[in-house]
Amino acid sequence: MTDTIDLPVEEAAAETPPAAAPRRKLFIKSYGCQMNAYDAQKMTDLLAPAGFDETQSLDEADLVILNTCHIRERAAEKIFSELGKVRAVKNTRRAEGRATQVVVAGCVAQAEGGEIVRRQKAVDLVVGPQNYHRLPDLLRRAEAAPVIDTEFPAEDKFDHLPRAPRSATQARGITAFVTVQEGCDKFCTFCVVPYTRGAEVSRPVEKIVAEVEALAEAGVRELTLLGQNVNAYHGEGPEGRIWSLAKLCARLAEIPGIARLRYTTSHPNDMDAELIAAHRDLPALMPYLHLPVQTGSDAILAAMNRKHDRAAYRRIIDRLRGACPDIALSSDFIVGFPGESEADFAATLDFIREITFASAFSFKYSPRPGTPGADLPDQVPEDVKIARLAALQELLDAQRQAFNAGLVGRTLAVLFEKKGRHAGQIAGRSPYLQPVQVDAPETMIGQVLPVEITGVATNSLFGRLAAEETKRL
Ligand code: SAH
Ligand code: SF4
Ligand code: F3S
Repeated sequence: MTDTIDLPVEEAAAETPPAAAPRRKLFIKSYGCQMNAYDAQKMTDLLAPAGFDETQSLDEADLVILNTCHIRERAAEKIFSELGKVRAVKNTRRAEGRATQVVVAGCVAQAEGGEIVRRQKAVDLVVGPQNYHRLPDLLRRAEAAPVIDTEFPAEDKFDHLPRAPRSATQARGITAFVTVQEGCDKFCTFCVVPYTRGAEVSRPVEKIVAEVEALAEAGVRELTLLGQNVNAYHGEGPEGRIWSLAKLCARLAEIPGIARLRYTTSHPNDMDAELIAAHRDLPALMPYLHLPVQTGSDAILAAMNRKHDRAAYRRIIDRLRGACPDIALSSDFIVGFPGESEADFAATLDFIREITFASAFSFKYSPRPGTPGADLPDQVPEDVKIARLAALQELLDAQRQAFNAGLVGRTLAVLFEKKGRHAGQIAGRSPYLQPVQVDAPETMIGQVLPVEITGVATNSLFGRLAAEETKRL
């Protein structure tokens, strides 16, 4: 099977350098969420026919792309310190007669645009998350003078992105991300995403199916469907009707080779009855859901504009557990949102005890320029945020450890992904995304097999193949 690149002929020809042109090196680093990681893969696939091979070494890179995240201040500021390092490398290379193009992509690019070039002169190109399909052309233009491209384009970038070559998909392993929805219309008062990623848009079903068929054909067994609000998915189906995420999942589960489906990130208000039922009816859908709640205080939920209260979240969890008793939950929490009192914070701890989470991400509130939260009175002092975060994480950590310990002695379906840490071991993932190390032959990589969990370490589980599998060896 030859590698196929799904570009119209003229476009493919335009991007292909003359045979004699030397290949160049691309260093690309992605920050932030999985959608950024997916975009970075797409940029790599797009630049391959334009003559770029990926490198892990900044020093040898002819092209450096930082795919940035703007979600919290620390994430955004990190980019400028990274750019300082990149500038030093660019200067050294210039002294040696080698040119380096520097690109800032992603959400900082979208939010700060030309300001980035003013702050860091080494940057040649600033390109937003909806515009990177134009990279080859933008890079040519940026050879003359810095270019900023952050206008939301009329065209759909996905129509201009090549399909990953089979070899690239295989090198990425048997799990894959697929963006099915982008943008957010929710406008939580703390969040930059509606500004950096724009309005909610869903990709049409047929395009997603075609992408997944190619992934499955290259050996992918597990998909994570991505969207800033993935369960608000409402893409056009082949018959012209609007499809929900539940219906999309059912269709993707039919594709030969696809054994497991996950989706992230969801908003509680978009957890509809059909999607809850899919957790009962669709075996490929993993019993693990990341459903951010942010806080357990009704007053803070309202101030955050989450548009649901604590009782509504609780009802969704009860229905999910009714549909799928095995389901484990993960969430996001913010401490120190403006106005958060000790009582509000205590309500969050209490809510965590009430629901019980298998894992979670938690953050100190970071005021983001341009969001309503940044202008609210009663900003919480840093030392209070630090103390609340520590208390919250202690509780969440204890719940995670209890969840993991509770799996010992149980038999879980593990999808084996790669060689393990030690000779004779292979590593896979449980339905709950935990890495599992098992003594088993490499021929089992790619299979989903029952594993009896025998032990737990901080970040992984240990197990042995369940008896019936051991007999087959
Ligand atoms: N779309 C997802 C989350 C996107 S951002 C959702 O709706 O839940 C991922 C997480 O970052 C959020 O859930 C939130 O917990 C955190 N976050 C977003 N903005 C933040 C801010 N200004 N300060 C601290 N944490 C923030
Ligand atoms: Fe941000 Fe809220 Fe949209 Fe999630 S739902 S991306 S937290 S605005
Ligand atoms: Fe960050 Fe943008 Fe994702 S702000 S979390 S990279 S959508």
